[in-house]
Amino acid sequence: MRRTHHCGQLNKADLGTSVTLLGWVDSIRDHGGIIFVDLRDRKGITQVKFDPSVDAALGAQAARVRSESVIGVSGKVVPRPEGTVNPGLPTGAIEVEGSVLEIINVSETPPFPLDDAGGDKVGEDLRLTYRYLDLRRPKMRRNLLVRHKTAKAVRDYFDSEDFIEVETPALFKSTPEGAREYLVPSRIHPGHFYALSQSPQQFKQILMVAGVEKYFQIARCFRDEDLRADRQMEFTQVDVEVSFAEREDIYALFEGMLKKIWKDVLGSDLPTPFPRLAFVEAMNRYGVDKPDVRFGLELTDLTETFRGSAFKVFQSTVASGGVIKGLNAKGLADITQGELKNLEDVAKSLGAKGLAFIKVEGGEWKSPIVKFFSEAEKASLTRELGIADGDIVFFAAAPWEKACAILGRIRLEAANLLQARGRMKLRPDDWKFLWVIDFPLMTYDEESQRHLATHHPFTAPVPEDIGLLDSAPDKVRGQHYDVVLNGMELGGGSIRIHQPALQKKVFEDVLKIPRDVVESRFGYMLKAFTFGAPPHGGIAFGLDRIVALLCGTSSIRDVIAFPKTQKGQDLMAGSPTPVTPRQLKDLHISILSPEE
Ligand code: AMO
Ligand code: AMP
Repeated sequence: MRRTHHCGQLNKADLGTSVTLLGWVDSIRDHGGIIFVDLRDRKGITQVKFDPSVDAALGAQAARVRSESVIGVSGKVVPRPEGTVNPGLPTGAIEVEGSVLEIINVSETPPFPLDDAGGDKVGEDLRLTYRYLDLRRPKMRRNLLVRHKTAKAVRDYFDSEDFIEVETPALFKSTPEGAREYLVPSRIHPGHFYALSQSPQQFKQILMVAGVEKYFQIARCFRDEDLRADRQMEFTQVDVEVSFAEREDIYALFEGMLKKIWKDVLGSDLPTPFPRLAFVEAMNRYGVDKPDVRFGLELTDLTETFRGSAFKVFQSTVASGGVIKGLNAKGLADITQGELKNLEDVAKSLGAKGLAFIKVEGGEWKSPIVKFFSEAEKASLTRELGIADGDIVFFAAAPWEKACAILGRIRLEAANLLQARGRMKLRPDDWKFLWVIDFPLMTYDEESQRHLATHHPFTAPVPEDIGLLDSAPDKVRGQHYDVVLNGMELGGGSIRIHQPALQKKVFEDVLKIPRDVVESRFGYMLKAFTFGAPPHGGIAFGLDRIVALLCGTSSIRDVIAFPKTQKGQDLMAGSPTPVTPRQLKDLHISILSPEE
């Protein structure tokens, strides 16, 4: 049998045509002896009818067809009888009167229903074990299509902007400055390892030295991280680097890319330019460097209000250089004890000592700490936080970044509670893009007692701050920018250091990486830079995250054909697995038993 049409194609214009369709049995129903088969392929569904009163043998054969089997049908396109037209289906005005049926391959009963609703109800592990069935669901098919269209829009965009796509190695070398890496043992060089590339960062910079000027790549990256809804060990970046570009050029270039993707995939027009928010302001107002600005509930600084407070916790925090932050979760005074306890646990998981609050009900302030507040403090709070009946206000007293982060999380939790009560409505397609800029170049790491690069060590300092590199490294801003959409970091990049002396200084004097380590890890790059490195900068977007947002899902696993589980497993193929002693021997590897 040869297919003449696909299953999403036939309509009234085809009435009377003889057709052959190939596909899967989506469902089969027996209505008063007449067998109806919904035949599905990747384009849609067509209803096929087998009438035993016309052909008894054919009717009997059709009655034996099982769901998800692959069949071929030939027949004539006829109108559906009055009252049975399905306007929700592109092929809903017609049906095919089957005259030939070929059962090409029978299917076992699938372990879960393959419609959107049915599949959503079962555990994800089952879906991942039978991913080939899961991917038959319309929703998953659409996600794959959106991913394809996104990648195509990216390639079309950069091609039209005169960029070229260059592939870079997945097998790279270990540079443990970033995330934890996957190591790959070398057979030819005993005891030596490759590392799977965490990103093409160093190669794309070398390509700039090589004079490529405009590079992009849809690149697979590998990071041995704890997996979450927005993190996979193997993920895809839209990776870009440009020579002779400054920050403003970069902003315009990537606003253009995102505009093109949203237009091509969703048909929607994104307004540009995107608003810009400095890191410090993002932290102060939203308590996070990737704020969801679809809603307010902003943080308020109350440090001055409580400088001389009778509440010891607040007073001593301010005295020791910390801050007091407040958040008015408007209209959430009806929070339950359990919900409040949850918020407290969230705050504590971020290092909070507690989560002080004031609930305002019936004009009364209910709070374990209100007894410490003076009338002046109360008046000031009411004014600064806009306190009204039905509100609950939360406080965090801690060093600045921690206090912001704690209330930043409480802000998101409060928004969830307000949404669940129907008092806040956030639309996933309310696209609130922004650039977060002016990050500190370095962040002090208490654990290793040294500065670490906030993004990565190749980010250039803001020119007017270079003088502070030695005296006040914390004050130096980096030429780093992130693109944030609705609370998700979509991408991040920077203008890079292109002067070998400055790069060496950052490695050795600021990041305090020993000279011999710098030489063995980055020596080749510093060397390359001595041969005429152009000024350059770039960015990488998480393609999986972009597609997830376009598809309206919060998990990137839904937009990756074969993702790993939270525990890093491929449940379908069954990976990872042990290997044979022979394989290990070839790789010069011996396995320690767990207790060693
Ligand atoms: P960065 O580490 O910020 O920058 O990564 C860029 C973007 O990649 C996505 N991303 C991930 N997506 C899924 N799973 C992961 N485990 C994961 N890790 C990162 C995010 C992130 O914004 N080389 C630099 C970019 C540059 O400076 O040009 C880099 O890799 O969306
Ligand atoms: P305490 O006096 O320690 O019993 O704390 C009184 C209230 O303040 C309790 O609700 C605590 O959860 C809260 N609290 C304690 N420390 C902090 C802090 N650093 N920031 C915010 N609230 C706090």
